[in-house]
Amino acid sequence: MARVRTAVLISGSGSNLQALIDAARDPDFPAEIVLVVSNRVDAYGLERAQAAGIAAKIIDHKQFQNRADFDAALDRHLRQANIALICLAGFMRLLTADFVAGWRDRLMNIHPSLLPAFPGLNVHQRAIDSGARFSGCTVHLVRAETDSGPILAQAVVPIHQDDTAQSLAMRILVQEHRIYPFALRLMAAGHVTIKGDRAFIRTVSAPTQAMINPDGRMDIGV
Ligand code: GRF
Repeated sequence: MARVRTAVLISGSGSNLQALIDAARDPDFPAEIVLVVSNRVDAYGLERAQAAGIAAKIIDHKQFQNRADFDAALDRHLRQANIALICLAGFMRLLTADFVAGWRDRLMNIHPSLLPAFPGLNVHQRAIDSGARFSGCTVHLVRAETDSGPILAQAVVPIHQDDTAQSLAMRILVQEHRIYPFALRLMAAGHVTIKGDRAFIRTVSAPTQAMINPDGRMDIGV
């Protein structure tokens, strides 16, 4: 079976890119990472692409007059490379509604919260400050509104009482590296059907157990 030609768009470290590259090393993985695009020249993820022998392209947003021109150049490059699926992985640019519409249901993103809670930036501090006991991460299909769109997979991660934004980010990132390859596998294998705002996935089931935080004995005898 031909593997689905996939591009990963990055702006920084690219640890999620690495997780996707590692998963796609398996010849049975239904997607192949054939292109990495960065809008920043200094993104470490470019080195990861090079180390993996994957074509890497820098499209520096600062070279463009406006968002639409940047997105048009990006779009052109992706189409020239015959890309079928796009994974945003720490790509820190808002995409225009036109671009998003042109890649509808073929554009995935990972966000480090349990969407629809905490879209946008400064996510971990906001989650801690809210007093929530859980946060997590979400892989979703992209719609025009930031961090919205049909949810493909989520991981729930407990918030600890002594967490900093950094410690929580690290705990969540570990789970990001698990769910992004999983969600890409489901998409590339054609197991996902979109109905309205929801993604329905064949071949998977939901866990039956709930998680409680604080953990431990709940009969504390008071
Ligand atoms: C991740 O937390 C991702 O969810 C967010 O930005 C971070 C990127 O990390 N959108 P990396 O570049 O994949 O290491």
